[in-house]
Amino acid sequence: MKQLNNNDNVVVVSVPAKIHLLGEHAVVYGKPALLTTVDRRITVTIQPRHSVSSTRMTDIFEPILKKELGLKEIPSYKLEISSNIPIGCGLGSSAAISVAYFGAMLLFLGQHWDLGKINALAYKAEKVFHGNPSGGDNATVCFGGLVWFQKVNADKKIIKQLPFSIPENLSKNFVLINTGKPVESTGEMVGGVRLLSEEKPEVVEKFLTQQEHVTKELLNVIKNGDEKNFIRIIKEGEKNLERIGVVSAFVSSIIREIENAGGAAKISGGGGKTKGTGMLLAYHKNPDVIKKIAEEKKLSYFQIKLGVEGLRREA
Ligand code: PMV
Repeated sequence: MKQLNNNDNVVVVSVPAKIHLLGEHAVVYGKPALLTTVDRRITVTIQPRHSVSSTRMTDIFEPILKKELGLKEIPSYKLEISSNIPIGCGLGSSAAISVAYFGAMLLFLGQHWDLGKINALAYKAEKVFHGNPSGGDNATVCFGGLVWFQKVNADKKIIKQLPFSIPENLSKNFVLINTGKPVESTGEMVGGVRLLSEEKPEVVEKFLTQQEHVTKELLNVIKNGDEKNFIRIIKEGEKNLERIGVVSAFVSSIIREIENAGGAAKISGGGGKTKGTGMLLAYHKNPDVIKKIAEEKKLSYFQIKLGVEGLRREA
């Protein structure tokens, strides 16, 4: 029988979901974004096997792996995926699967476990999936915690894993509400903003300036656990996103209700124009208030833990 590789062990890795605290869309134009991980994970298992099979996903991943690692062949393997990250809802499911795959494959191939390299490989796959993503999603789920991300230009990215976490007084009060999978893809939403920047450049310019300001402000507010200003900033950031047309009327009305009840909420990621915008990041000092609003609207929700560990080897 053919020797498969030197390492017949099963490899298991897991990767969390992500959420944009602020900075989505602005990040496409070189502005900073603040992202964090969410305690939902995808688990990838890779083990040797003696026949080759491919899927649409591995057809994208394998050429990247071969080219970047200078491999002629990849030993046959079996790929198993299990996940509790909802797909297409702004939680970075495609970034998570990409990071998990490349992380697991580096181990399977007996290569050095290097988060920077795994992140770079995952970014290449994300570009195939989404066109021209900023790379914030894959960086966040790979490195974990609270991540400051800025794509300064095509060749330069700032990825800072922040040396503090969201304080307990804030972190215990987040709820995600599932407003439904957006009809529009993230690429389409990014394209819509691009069109707006050509038709009404002043609107997008104003959005970028204001979003950069509040994203920077958010950093200190989180560091200090300043709830009053946290609520104000999330509200301002959300209003800015609404001005560039990435929040549907259905979702903005839910957000107004949460705000009127003393909380704040925002879309996270590309958003949507028609109805659903994916996961809504909602905050209230009493999370039951948010849960009640979601229940009244028959929307599913879950209380989450933010800032969890990024890519991790499980076995
Ligand atoms: O929709 P998501 O979760 O993939 O997030 C997209 C975030 C954008 O800023 C709109 C695009 C990007 O590439 O950063």
